[in-house]
Amino acid sequence: MNELPHPGDFASRLLRWHVSHGRHDLPWQREPSPYRVWLSEVMLQQTQVGTVLGYFERFTQTFADVKALAEAPLDEVLHLWSGLGYYSRARNLHKTAQIVASEYGGEFPDQLDALIALPGIGRSTAGAIIALAGNRRAAILDGNVKRVLARHYAIEGWPGTTSVLKQLWATAESVLPSDDYRNFTQAEMDLGATVCTRRNPNCEACPLRSDCAARAQGRIDEFPGRRPRRQVPTRSACFLIVSDRNRSILLQRRPPNGIWGGLWCFPEIANEATLPQTMAELGLRNYVMSGKMAPIPHTFTHFKLLMEPLCIEVGEQVTVVRETDAVCWYNSSEAPQLGLPMPVSRLLNALAAQR
Ligand code: ADE
Repeated sequence: MNELPHPGDFASRLLRWHVSHGRHDLPWQREPSPYRVWLSEVMLQQTQVGTVLGYFERFTQTFADVKALAEAPLDEVLHLWSGLGYYSRARNLHKTAQIVASEYGGEFPDQLDALIALPGIGRSTAGAIIALAGNRRAAILDGNVKRVLARHYAIEGWPGTTSVLKQLWATAESVLPSDDYRNFTQAEMDLGATVCTRRNPNCEACPLRSDCAARAQGRIDEFPGRRPRRQVPTRSACFLIVSDRNRSILLQRRPPNGIWGGLWCFPEIANEATLPQTMAELGLRNYVMSGKMAPIPHTFTHFKLLMEPLCIEVGEQVTVVRETDAVCWYNSSEAPQLGLPMPVSRLLNALAAQR
């Protein structure tokens, strides 16, 4: 209770803290070009730093700059993204690379509004590109920063509502320093990721603890306010594991929109009754249903999917790898480079290991 007040305002305390306690050697902090910052920020939108490291390395090795990314086939981008989830991020990444290459001569625009107009770049990502790559004045408000600000200023309510979000943005703007935007932005992120964590925050280590309103009220756990509870629906679908005598497995490209849009997946049917029709559509006669595998649950943001694998063996020998726009035979011994959703890739690996 009787703490000495910290000298300095929010920004200067955070900046001082960052010198010795912030993160300084993340790969995207080396040569923080707009391209590298943008790529890392999009990856970090919904994925932890530890997972992003390897993906970032592979992406930057494969695509040295935004032009290289723009020229790559979408399939190659989706393949490199496999496992990161939220694949619309990869499709937007590719679209944005093409716009930057064709309309901006390969250089990212430096104005906030022009950045926000690009697919997959929201206000916070745009702010991060300006501050981290350009060391220019811009606020960010990602999940970590929302939590830090909501706690420090005891901003009530769920950030998913417009009015709460508006207050948070106004606060994010108001705490900006008058220079050193790059370090300040990284410091905000780092404080949220390492000290002001969602669970078990380490308040003793916080440079802002002396005037944290949530802490003073003993209500740290209550900020940010939670989303009102909503039940997510569950739906189930049969996934056909169709194998031929070469143990190749039939994959079908999903339509561009909807879940796993554009990725390769097992043919999906609503229920077993439609199996004969689907097999006929695939041009596969002489098949037997050889069993069912244990259902695999998969959670999306808005619903849960129970994947029910149905094993089918087809009689005709398929010797060549057929690859049209919509179907291909996947053989793990000569696996083509395809964008695969994580549960599909896991199941393919499990099937390959069984054989
Ligand atoms: N999360 C989002 N952006 C980040 C960054 N630049 N460094 C670490 N974690 C982050």
